[in-house]
Amino acid sequence: MQQVNLGMIGGGTVGSGVYHALEQNGDLMASRLGLQINILRIAVKALNEPRPYAIPESLMTTDWAAVVKDPKVDVVIELAGGTTVARAMVLSALESGKPVITANKALLSAYGEELFEAARKNKANLYYEASVAGGIPIIKSLREGFIGNRITHLYGIVNGTCNYILTRMKLEGAEFETVLDEAQRLGYAEADPSLDVDGYDSLHKIGILASLAHGFWVNPRDIYVEGIRQVTQADIRFANQLGYTIKLLGIIKRIPDRVGANNNGSHVQVSVYPVLVPHSHVLANVNNVFNAVFVRGDLVGDTLFYGRGAGKDATASAVLSDIADAALDLKFDTKCRVPPFVPHEKQGAVLPIDAAVSRYYVRMHVVDQPGVLASVAALFAENHIGISSVFQPEGHEGQGVPLVVMTHEAPNAAMHSALAKIRQLPVSLAEPRMIRVEDFE
Ligand code: HSE
Repeated sequence: MQQVNLGMIGGGTVGSGVYHALEQNGDLMASRLGLQINILRIAVKALNEPRPYAIPESLMTTDWAAVVKDPKVDVVIELAGGTTVARAMVLSALESGKPVITANKALLSAYGEELFEAARKNKANLYYEASVAGGIPIIKSLREGFIGNRITHLYGIVNGTCNYILTRMKLEGAEFETVLDEAQRLGYAEADPSLDVDGYDSLHKIGILASLAHGFWVNPRDIYVEGIRQVTQADIRFANQLGYTIKLLGIIKRIPDRVGANNNGSHVQVSVYPVLVPHSHVLANVNNVFNAVFVRGDLVGDTLFYGRGAGKDATASAVLSDIADAALDLKFDTKCRVPPFVPHEKQGAVLPIDAAVSRYYVRMHVVDQPGVLASVAALFAENHIGISSVFQPEGHEGQGVPLVVMTHEAPNAAMHSALAKIRQLPVSLAEPRMIRVEDFE
């Protein structure tokens, strides 16, 4: 049987997970592919670093360049993480014309355009299934399964840590800080948890999906991001009473061309922020560390992917799928059968967040006296924002009351201008809090 030799860089949680997964299911893959997969060398940071699965010392080296340059290595797998040395690793492997596999979302977010171009120039391929939503095969689905569709909407719960925190806050009434500490202890959160809770991990992943789905490179700087630090127990409770669950969603929406407008190309909303999701929607029921990606294509309609977005075994599952593709490319000499990314939408652009339209939940804390509701309503009206419902639980005298307003659709710019005025009202006792509402229409 023909043999494909792998050179892996990274022997930590993910790297040793891939080694273990190949030990476990390598023969199964060989019989499915008609190819023997062999890990030839693994570059590690230190031979004795702690790892969940043992790797034989005979396979390990601390010299990554030697792995990339080894003529017997057919496929290079970058699982080192980071964006500086990892960029050099991937570029040098692509420049030698070898197929490369990476799980590195931060690297692709920062340098994807350069790396995809390097793959094209060197007639190599770059596979990155494990970079987004762990074991869920969303990259392959966008690259191949949905190739005949225009993707109109994509909504993703792509950060397990945030989903875990929001789930526990809702189901147990837990406070944000307590649950974050626990997520860190359980090993879900990134080393720097602000990447999770401030939305940047989701931003990296959503940028990759948006680029792939819409055929133009989405610069991470153009993606609007809000994390979950500001979501309070009160918001979760009020949203629940109104029939909604709060989730951190990555949102990619193609904005339909306006009739008669002079459009120069497609505009796409690409953003990450907390959202009120109706209880009846399937994404409201994706709990704990699970990820889910909801994709709507113009031909296929609505589809849903659900699974583990992190963890050594789920991530290894995605890397094994990339290994199979890279190995088959070599077997049939079709190195670029499915290119990693094709910039086919030359006029594509990200919609500025101010122009994005949605419904809103607004929670204020106001003095409980006659005329307050009217003055708040007047500020929404002034900004052409329609109110769809108002909710005001009774408060204790002298402490003010929460006032929750649900609105009809309006542009973000209008909502920001209304909030700026509400903030200045003498009857407003605390910073008003706004969370967007999604109806998935
Ligand atoms: N910190 C990430 C998460 C890990 O919580 O989803 C997977 O990218």
